[in-house]
Amino acid sequence: MAIAIILAAGTGERFSKQKPKQLAEVNGKAIVEYSLQAFEEHSEITEIILVMKENQIQKFEHGLRDKYKKLTLFVNGGMSRAESSANALFSLQTHSQEKVLIHDAARPLISFQIISSCLNLLETHDAVMTATPATDTIVEAKSGKVTSILHRESLWSAQTPQGFKYETIRDAYAKMQQHPDFKPTDDCGVLKKFFPEIEIALAITQSNNLKITYPSDQFLAEKLLDADDDSQADKS
Ligand code: CTP
Ligand code: MG
Repeated sequence: MAIAIILAAGTGERFSKQKPKQLAEVNGKAIVEYSLQAFEEHSEITEIILVMKENQIQKFEHGLRDKYKKLTLFVNGGMSRAESSANALFSLQTHSQEKVLIHDAARPLISFQIISSCLNLLETHDAVMTATPATDTIVEAKSGKVTSILHRESLWSAQTPQGFKYETIRDAYAKMQQHPDFKPTDDCGVLKKFFPEIEIALAITQSNNLKITYPSDQFLAEKLLDADDDSQADKS
């Protein structure tokens, strides 16, 4: 049994100035709804928490609650992704060992397999990160010049969902309140900073769990979701 937190309170600056990307549509459905549906349909997920901006909660809460029965709590987002995660974690009332998966609404290609793989690893670990092997060579650079070229064999792209035992990640975020200058880009980053001794298991995925960031990603997501539909149809 587990709880899913979906982060949908970003403004999507790199995507469009008009509308947050998670509300844009892919194949006739809002991007955030792909994650809602994936968690709703997974039998091990008992509850979904959706983090949104206050005005969006007012606008969408009623309709989304009708459609997704596991969606029990709407939480106001913060100024940063980390603040949004923290708001959700501090609003949650659950037991210390409950499994919690935190997911970017901007990743509509989340699958049943990815969710299951995270939950299985949480049977034996306190933390898990969905990740895919780096395919590009990654370099460090300063002032427009390459300073070092990293060994690709040990490099991974961090994605979501990232999963935790509830107490572990809540305590890490509680510690972060005392460090306003720390600007993490994901939840495992918060855990690693405050509890470096806790092992984070890799939930390895080769499937394209693309994060919608730029306008062209919307087109890519459309094609990838179409391809998924075709492969499901082939199986049935
Ligand atoms: N997010 C959030 N609250 C914030 C910022 C981000 O809930 N204050 C969410 C986004 O909605 C997204 C996920 O965190 O689902 C990953 O963030 P990112 O891809 O950076 O989205 P945005 O911050 O919306 O986009 P940008 O950085 O281009 O403005
Ligand atoms: Mg952002």
